Amino acid sequence: MHDTFCSKANPGQFLMLWIPGIDEIPLSILNAGDGQVSVAVKQIGDATRHLHDMKRGDLVGIRGPFGNSFTETRGRVLLVGGGTGTAPLLFLAKRLATKAEQLSFVIGAKTRSELLFLKQLDTVCAEESILGTTEDGSFGIQCLATEPLEDLLDKQNFNVIYTCGPEAMMRKVFDLAEKRKIPLEASLERLMRCGIGLCGSCVIGKYRVCRDGPVFNLSQLSEIKDEFGTSKLGFDGSVIPI
Ligand SMILES: Cc1cc2nc3c(=O)[nH]c(=O)nc-3n(C[C@H](O)[C@H](O)[C@H](O)COP(=O)(O)OP(=O)(O)OC[C@H]3O[C@@H](n4cnc5c(N)ncnc54)[C@H](O)[C@@H]3O)c2cc1C
Ligand code: FES
Repeated sequence: MHDTFCSKANPGQFLMLWIPGIDEIPLSILNAGDGQVSVAVKQIGDATRHLHDMKRGDLVGIRGPFGNSFTETRGRVLLVGGGTGTAPLLFLAKRLATKAEQLSFVIGAKTRSELLFLKQLDTVCAEESILGTTEDGSFGIQCLATEPLEDLLDKQNFNVIYTCGPEAMMRKVFDLAEKRKIPLEASLERLMRCGIGLCGSCVIGKYRVCRDGPVFNLSQLSEIKDEFGTSKLGFDGSVIPI
């Protein structure tokens, strides 16, 4: 998609995509530059189905970029991505490719077909630094993405961990990082309506994910431990278990 503002986005930021007559939804930015911005969309419900059915040239609206971005750190970096959560991490990995001392990527999904961006990852990480996991065993190790982490962290030292994906996965990564005192940044998802801190639908603890995040560091995540990986707000403001 062409967009002057979003094409200047940094990894971790998101945009609000309007599908005329249907809905407006938040999506992480997969890549940005040269006047263009791209996203990766998983078909979930109404809005994402309409997006999947669209053809080249169909009209969408874009607002953004919104939110903060990952801190681009040098040193030994571990990225842990699940499902479409891999999108902002791939964008980050491209930026870090020439800066980081080492890039390791653990990428997980339910099945091989949902294991996004493996080919693109090959261009930014050394093959031996990419660890793929699937729940059905159709690719890589048959397990959850978090399972090989303990072993990896025993064997190698990392200066920072970045994660994005299902919140249960990110919570496990958080627990490991906290135990081992490794700096962590996690990109959170909540229901989003305005995307600019006004409506309150994305509240977690004292934070609004759209405005204060979506990227949160270890000490911020410690403050919202009760809700992070446990519960979120529904459309009517009720608390829904994750
Ligand atoms: C910061 C952020 C980044 C995201 N990045 C991506 C991405 O890169 N790729 C991707 O496929 N998905 C991403 N999502 C999730 C995506 O927004 C939802 O899957 C999508 O809104 C579902 O809409 P739907 O109508 O197809 O599904 P439905 O389940 O029918 O949605 C019903 C309603 O819920 C809202 N909704 C549902 N889930 C979410 C959600 N998690 N967050 C916000 N609104 C939601 C929609 O606006 C819609 O009005 C992201 C969410 C957030 C908050
Ligand atoms: S989406 Fe409205 S405050 Fe965050």
